[in-house]
Amino acid sequence: MEFDELDSTNAALKRIAEQGGEVGEGLLVWARRQTGGRGRSGRTWESPTGNVYASFLIKAPEATKNAPEIGFVAALAVRDAILELPRHNTAPPVLTFKWPNDLFVDGKKVSGILTELATDPDRRSWIVLGIGINLIPVEVPNQIYPVGSLADSHVDTKPAHVLTVLGRELAKWLEIWRTGGFFVVREAWRASGPQSGAPLSVRLPEGPVDGTFAGLDDDGALLLDTSSGRRRLMVGDVMFGDS
Ligand code: BTN
Repeated sequence: MEFDELDSTNAALKRIAEQGGEVGEGLLVWARRQTGGRGRSGRTWESPTGNVYASFLIKAPEATKNAPEIGFVAALAVRDAILELPRHNTAPPVLTFKWPNDLFVDGKKVSGILTELATDPDRRSWIVLGIGINLIPVEVPNQIYPVGSLADSHVDTKPAHVLTVLGRELAKWLEIWRTGGFFVVREAWRASGPQSGAPLSVRLPEGPVDGTFAGLDDDGALLLDTSSGRRRLMVGDVMFGDS
């Protein structure tokens, strides 16, 4: 479903799922611009015309505790989709993940992912998987990371084309996840994630924690070695490091 303007594609898809009717996996809501784009941790997502704002409906895993795995699946799909897009120079951009699901291109955040839960009138659980990708530069006030766009990295494309490639990559990674399990996804994420031992600073609601990257736990939690021992983090923003 395509819209010129929505408050938020996540909010719209959640409303559709909660009303019921013909909802099924892969249902896509996208908009050319959003007036109330939602980011993680209650932040807003700047959403002018020209970028990708899309939400996909995904069947929730049997165990709700596995739902965060979908964010990693989606980040891999975004990475692989971007690598398939036409670009103006020959050098491929450097794509890296910042935990949990941010994608950086040549050192700047270009894509963010927000997953939310929805339950339809038949009590079926769904994940609303929201993906934002900056194709063109965006003004972001109070940036907590450097923010960039694919245009900065000479990738020249339009939202409708990105969505075609992204839909295919998402189907591919969902299949890999469902057949191979989170283990396979985690290994693939690690290939574009921080090196083991990389210094990281993680912003938590109670303040920053410094340490070194010690991998991802079985459920995608960030393992951080700090001066007071290993921490297992489920929420937070990685502020800087080598990733
Ligand atoms: C983040 O904070 O990094 C997550 C940003 C997620 C933005 C996307 S844009 C499409 C979808 N609709 C929203 O309102 N948010 C997500």
